[in-house]
Amino acid sequence: MITSIKIDRLSYDGKGIGYIDGKVAFVCGALPGEEVSVKVISDKKSYYECELVDVITRSDKRVESACPYFNECGGCAYMHVSHSDESEMKASALEDILKRKAGLEVDVKKVMSDKDVCYRNKLSLKVKNYEFGFYREETHEFVKIDDCLLASDAIRSVFKLKDCLRFREGNILIRSNFNGEVIIKIDTSDEAKIDILKIKESVKLVGIILNDRVIYGEDFFIERVHNYFYKVNVNSFFQVNLNILGKVIDILRENSYGVVADLYCGVGTLGIPLKKDKLYGIEIVKEAVIDAIYNAKINKQDNKYMLGSAEVISKINDKIDTIIIDPPRAGLNRKTLDFLINYKSRNLIYMSCNPFTLVRDLSILKDIYEVNDVYYLDMFPKTKHMECLCVLKLK
Ligand SMILES: C[S@@+](CC[C@H](N)C(=O)[O-])C[C@H]1O[C@@H](n2cnc3c(N)ncnc32)[C@H](O)[C@@H]1O
Repeated sequence: MITSIKIDRLSYDGKGIGYIDGKVAFVCGALPGEEVSVKVISDKKSYYECELVDVITRSDKRVESACPYFNECGGCAYMHVSHSDESEMKASALEDILKRKAGLEVDVKKVMSDKDVCYRNKLSLKVKNYEFGFYREETHEFVKIDDCLLASDAIRSVFKLKDCLRFREGNILIRSNFNGEVIIKIDTSDEAKIDILKIKESVKLVGIILNDRVIYGEDFFIERVHNYFYKVNVNSFFQVNLNILGKVIDILRENSYGVVADLYCGVGTLGIPLKKDKLYGIEIVKEAVIDAIYNAKINKQDNKYMLGSAEVISKINDKIDTIIIDPPRAGLNRKTLDFLINYKSRNLIYMSCNPFTLVRDLSILKDIYEVNDVYYLDMFPKTKHMECLCVLKLK
């Protein structure tokens, strides 16, 4: 059924919201004020999920999408607005959710990425019938792509080498670093024909890992932000937008933090550049802890790193002044939240890639901590995602 609706406002994940016979309808790619014709693709109990068929009345904020796969692959939500309008929309969505769900009225500060395309240093692709692609959002519908505008130039050049990375089905992870070096990880149960020599002719290849076995080079690379160096295993987390990471480090380095506990520390990314007296890091992925220990050494620091879940902070036998938390999308677990409430460190720095779990946790932490600064970090331009940095002080 194709019907026309008026778009009222945007959802937190960048979809246009309108109504069909009084029921909410979400439309990816539609903007507030627009009249659009849509096709219902999914009829849920309390809302419709719709596909944009045509824009009848255009918003003056609408721009042409530079990506031919927008609306098809589902990886982007803001290809149809300018970079500044996108960040305005996301920052005001963050202010709104902070107010509605955590009762916090804050002027969110924007930290903009210098680039809104070619910024991602990591791309995870599906392979089907020898083609690269993504699964369309929330489906197993394969969308073949031959390029991704969000990816770094080094990663984009790997797309052109599809014939040198031939396997019928599986996954391919491509990561790049500050120096344009590339590491490729392939998981497949099929026979893989990989022409390493040809790949090396076109990209600065650091390593190829096939089904967890290094078949060329190394399973890590060295990343650099300002004058900090990080060894990053192919399986370890690293922030996807180096430019924004550099700006976060600049903000954090404006203060000094005494004794620090860096929870969810990854390879030591946020904790290493801090001005501090001492640092304890905690991380659940073994390879990342090994990297963090190495990274402390190459950055000439004496940090201690522990393998385990965040709540092992309770085992630290020292007076902690500052706790950094940078959890995955699920936010803090109950034990860690309880620890933070009872421990009452002087400073708390909460970095989050999910505003929903952030506000859930802040609605509890705000009784003990003053939420001093909230930053919208433009870590993922064009996509529905956002990163936030919150600086909290004990009341
Ligand atoms: C968003 S990343 C942040 C990493 C690091 N702070 C950085 O800036 O690169 C979250 C990290 O938490 C780790 N992690 C996930 N669950 C955890 C848990 N329960 N306890 C400790 N670390 C965890 C992940 O492996 C990942 O390295």
